[in-house]
Amino acid sequence: MSKRVAILISGGGSNMLALVDSMTGDHPARPCLVMSNDPGAAGLKRAADLGIPVAAVDHRPFKGDRPAFEAALMEPLRAAAPDILCLAGFMRVLTAGFVSQWQGRMLNIHPSLLPKYKGLQTHARALAAGDAEHGCSVHEVTAALDDGPILGQARLAIDPQDNAESLAARVLKLEHRLYPMVLRRFADGDRRPVLLDETSASGGLANSVQSQ
Ligand code: GAR
Repeated sequence: MSKRVAILISGGGSNMLALVDSMTGDHPARPCLVMSNDPGAAGLKRAADLGIPVAAVDHRPFKGDRPAFEAALMEPLRAAAPDILCLAGFMRVLTAGFVSQWQGRMLNIHPSLLPKYKGLQTHARALAAGDAEHGCSVHEVTAALDDGPILGQARLAIDPQDNAESLAARVLKLEHRLYPMVLRRFADGDRRPVLLDETSASGGLANSVQSQ
């Protein structure tokens, strides 16, 4: 039987769409819910247009009471009964209590080569540090922010002309490739990291995918 996947978003949901697009044919999983902390998130409408059940739990009325907000999140999650939870641009920090309920079943995508640049402004920080490489990571979610076992990483070479915006756009394209690859493996019970390397590519021609 297919694994059920719930996807949590806060914004446009381009990673959510990449995941949803991938879950067809012989893929071992199917989307069962797209949920956002922002009722106005553009990704909610996109998911609804695709016929996927959607839910919104606005975090603002909870005024920083994370456990109460998370209890409200749990209601649609219980109804959808996902096997796997994918955070895809979900911009709320989750408590250890919530995370423990999904231990080993919750993934996140983060726009940096973890453990570098946990938190926000990852692209600007990579540029400010003069890094030659940058990228994105998919990891299992644990109680510590942007931590947890790495399930995949995609890297690219920073161009001298890159600014934070151009770098974000380049990394986002890699995210759309990496996350579906990791989810497919994960849903099959395979936790070996996916490694995508575009650092030596000119125009993205020389990609390599490896397993460890
Ligand atoms: C993505 O770049 C994702 O990696 C990032 O937010 C963006 C969401 O875009 N997530 C984080 O920064 C989490 N710490 P999307 O809504 O188009 O998928």
